[in-house]
Order: sequence, then structure tokens, then C-alpha cells
Amino acid sequence: MRSRRDFLKLSALLGMTGLVGLSKTTPAFAAVKKQPEAIVVSTWEHGLAANEAAWQVLAKGGRALDAVETGVRVPEADPKVRTVGYGGYPDRDGIVTLDACIMDEHMNCGSVAFLQNIKHPISVARLVMEKTPHVMLVGEGAKQFALQQGFKEENLLTAESEADWKAWLKDQKIQQINIENHDTIGMLAMDAAGNLSGACTTSGAAYKMHGRVGDSPLIGAGLYVDNDIGAATATGMGELMIKTVGSHLVVELMRQGASPEEACKQAVLRIARKLGDYAQFQVGFLALNKQGQYGAYGIQPGFNYAVQNKAGSTLIDGKSLLGAKV
Ligand code: GLY
Repeated sequence: MRSRRDFLKLSALLGMTGLVGLSKTTPAFAAVKKQPEAIVVSTWEHGLAANEAAWQVLAKGGRALDAVETGVRVPEADPKVRTVGYGGYPDRDGIVTLDACIMDEHMNCGSVAFLQNIKHPISVARLVMEKTPHVMLVGEGAKQFALQQGFKEENLLTAESEADWKAWLKDQKIQQINIENHDTIGMLAMDAAGNLSGACTTSGAAYKMHGRVGDSPLIGAGLYVDNDIGAATATGMGELMIKTVGSHLVVELMRQGASPEEACKQAVLRIARKLGDYAQFQVGFLALNKQGQYGAYGIQPGFNYAVQNKAGSTLIDGKSLLGAKV
């Protein structure tokens, strides 16, 4: 039988954890242990429309993996989004080449790079994950796989992107990626079961060398998901994320206890410390942890991200290294 002294000891211990008077079986304990709440976050303003589509899946109790694929297909199909999918800026030879990857709560992942004439690289990446023994297919092999899976070959170079490319050919000035407000879409979601997934898709740096692949299809660089800890994605100058395996770094920093925003900031500081020419580029990290907290951080001011949950949809300005008040 429990003595009064034991009872007082137990009460004191529970008091330290703020759980006085609650046992695991009482309804009140269930209230302390919060149910997961669905949420989706995405890079940039084009994330608003993408999140809306993802939310249709999450709000019905759907899986985070389905939500992120559905969500990023929106900018992939939108010719007005010039840095993702159809209508994306071509490389310096006038060819649109696409990169994408996807990762689920079981560490399954799939990726395509240097894919041409297929509008939805994210869906091809998902099929690489689900239907092949591999993680990544590139170029012609990725296209052949997509065609075998029923995707249609189509021209992705719109008249607007072609005209901009022809104008660029006149002086061929290399455009620094993403000082302006646009780029890759990276999307992270948690579903009502508390499971995390992420997707990342891009047409990459405008007027890049033919054959150049950035961070977006590289698991660990452009996207990483660890269902025990959280998920992270990146946007901006992909070479910087590849050199630091940036998204994986953000997840590992969260594992060590950093909040999502602090983890993103530390990853940006790592780039700044290690890579001397960082100030001429933009990089933005976005993270979501297992508790549904999110945060972001960039090199340059101007990096924003979209958030959608049951409270609604919002666009948030991320903090940045060069915008920070010292
Ligand atoms: N973050 C996109 C790229 O560098 O291609």
C-alpha cells in the first residue's frame, strides 16, 4: 500500500514536471499530451496557393506525403511561377531542366534531376521512391521512366521565358539566384497523425550551365525529413546548400534542441562562416518540428514563407543575416 510519505514524494516529483494530480489514464492527462495538429509550410509567396491545395488533403485527415505532392504540383503547373516547372527559366542553351525530390515519414525518398519536358517532376520523384529500388534518376533515364509511368512529353518553355532568355543572350550576364523574391518551392507538412513529409521542386538557377543540378533534388541539401525530430527545406543558391548539406544540418540542429528558426539561423551562419562569398547570394531555410513549430532564416532580407493550418493561411517575412539589426 502506498504510504503518505510515498504520496508526498510522488506529488513533489510530479510537481516538478507540472503534472500534479494527473495520471496517464485521466482525461486531463490527455489534454496535456496534445494531439498533433495538421500544418503545412512552404517557401515564398507562391507557397500560398500551394499550401491551399495541400490543406485540402490535410483537412480531410490525409497523409502529409499526399499533401506535399499535391501542393507543389500547383506552382509546377503555373506558367507565372518562373522558377518552378512549366514556364520556368531555361538554362543558357534555352532548355528547361527540372529538379525535384520528396521524402516521407519512413525515410523513404525519391528524386529526379536534369529532367526535361515533363511537367510534374515531383510526381516522377514520388514514383522513383515507390516503384524503383533507387532514390534518384537523372536526365534521359528519368524521362524514360516518366514516360513508362504514363507521363506525357510536353514543351515547358513558354513564350515569356523564351523571350527573357533571348534578351539575356544579348549580354549573358549571370543572374545571381534569388536576390529577387522568387525561387524553388520547398514544402513541409505534418498530418493529423503527427507524421511529417516534405517536397522540393525547381527549374533551378536561371541561365545555368546545361547539365547543372542544384540542391533541390538532393536529399539532405534541399530537403530532409526525420519523423522523430522535424523537417527542413531550402531555397536559393543551391551550391551553398550542397556544400553544407544544409537541410540535414537544420534537422540535426533541431535534434540538439534548437527551435526551427534558431536551427535555420545556425545553418545560415555556418554558410557565412565557411563560404566567403555568401553575401552576394540568397539562401533561405524553412523548418517544421515534430511539435508543429516552424521558423525560417535567410541570408538576404526578402525571404518569406507561407503557413497554413486550421487557423488559416498567412505569409511571414523570415528574418535574415543581412537584415539583422546589430
Ligand atoms: N535552389 C535551387 C537551385 O539552386 O537550383
